[in-house]
Amino acid sequence: RKVVLAYSGGLDTSVIVPWLKENYGCEVVCFTADVGQGSKETDGLEAKAKASGASQLVIKDLKEEFVRDYIFPCLRAGAIYERKYLLGTSMARPVIAKAMVDVAKEVGADAVAHGCTGKGNDQVRFELTFYALNPELHVVAPWREWDIKGREDAIEYATKHNVPVPVTKKSIYSRDRNLWHLSHEGDILEDPANEPSKDMYMITVDPEDAPNQPEYVEIGFVSGTPVSVNGKDLSPANLLSTLNDIGGRHGVGREDMVENRLVGMKSRGVYETPGGTLLFTAFRELESLTLDRMTMQAKDANALTYAELVYAGLWFDPLRKALDSFNEELTRTATGSVTLKLYKGKATVASRKSPNSLYRQEISTFESGEIYNQADAAGFIRLYGLPTRVRAMLDKGMFQG
Ligand code: ARG
Ligand code: SIN
Repeated sequence: RKVVLAYSGGLDTSVIVPWLKENYGCEVVCFTADVGQGSKETDGLEAKAKASGASQLVIKDLKEEFVRDYIFPCLRAGAIYERKYLLGTSMARPVIAKAMVDVAKEVGADAVAHGCTGKGNDQVRFELTFYALNPELHVVAPWREWDIKGREDAIEYATKHNVPVPVTKKSIYSRDRNLWHLSHEGDILEDPANEPSKDMYMITVDPEDAPNQPEYVEIGFVSGTPVSVNGKDLSPANLLSTLNDIGGRHGVGREDMVENRLVGMKSRGVYETPGGTLLFTAFRELESLTLDRMTMQAKDANALTYAELVYAGLWFDPLRKALDSFNEELTRTATGSVTLKLYKGKATVASRKSPNSLYRQEISTFESGEIYNQADAAGFIRLYGLPTRVRAMLDKGMFQG
C-alpha cells in the first residue's frame, strides 16, 4: 500500500507521516503544491519530509494552472459567496486535489490523505475531487480518526516517533494562503464581536497607513480574460501577483465576515484579497459596458449558483462546467480596459473602455440625437404602463359593469 499525502511541512502534516505508517502500514509519498503560498514554505521541504519518514516528496508548481483554469473562470462568473467571500481557499482545493490524483497515478499509490479537520469545508472539497476524478482511491483523513487533540499531543507524538518538530512557531491563527488570498480564522476572531488586531494582516497595509497619494492602475481584458496591467502583457500568475502588490500597498481587499460552512456551523473569517478585489471591481465595470439588462440579470443569478458550487466542493460537477460555457459565451465581448484609482483601502473606477461597448454616447447624450426620438417615448410609456393604468382605473371604479 502506498499513500499520497497533501503535505505542507507544518507540525500537523509532519505528524501524519509516521501516523499513516503506524496505522496503515503504508509507504508515504508527500505532495506539496505551489499555489503561491510563499516561497519560503517550499524551501528545504524535501529533507523535512524524509526526516518525518516519507519515501519521497513531489512538488508541483500549479500557479499558472490555478489562475488560468480556476481563478479566471470564477472571475468571469462573478462568483462571490455570501456577499463577500471571493473563494480563495475554495478554488485552491480542487486544483491541489486534482494534482494529488495525478501523482497517485504516477507513483502507483492506491490511497490519498489530507490534513483537514473534520469540522471544515476543506475536507469536503478534497474528497469530492478525489471521488470525481478517481473513485477507486482510498481516502484517509487522520484528523477524523486519531486522538491527537492539539499542539501538545502532536509534539509528544512527533517526539516519540523521532520526527523533528518544525521550529517555526505556529501562528495563533489558522491561515491559508495562495496567490489569490490569505485567510485568517481562529483565536480572537472566534468571537464575532472582536475587531481583528492590526498586526494580524499580512498582505495588505492598514488603509490608515496607506499612501496619501492615490495611484491609478489600468487592467486590460480580452474576451473575459485579464491580460495586462498598465499596458504590459503578463501571464495569469504574474498578472495576479502584480495586482496583489499594487492593491496591497493601498490596503485594498480586506473582508471580515461570518459565513455559513457546508457542514452546518457558522464560522468567522477575515480575508485579504488585494489583486482579486481589483480584478472583480474592474471586470464589473467592463461588463457594465458590454452586457444588456436581461443578460446581466441572468448572469448575476447564475453567479450565486456558481459560488455555491465552488464553496461546496462541487468544482468537477457538470453544472459548473455548463455554467462555464454560459459565462464564456457572455464574456466573449468583455474586451477593453478599466482604470481604477486606489486610495486608502478603496478602489474606485476612473475610466472604462471597450470596442464592444453597448453604451453609445450619440444615443445617451443629453444633447439631441438622431437615433433616439423623444416623441417615441410617449407611445412606449402608454403601452408599457397599460397594466398600471388598468389597475388604477379599476380601483377608482372607472370601468362600467
Ligand atoms: N472559510 C474559508 C473557506 O471555507 C477559508 C478556509 C480556510 N482553510 C484553512 N485550512 N485554514 O473557504
Ligand atoms: C479545516 O477545518 O481544515 C479548515 C477550515 C475549513 O476547512 O473550513
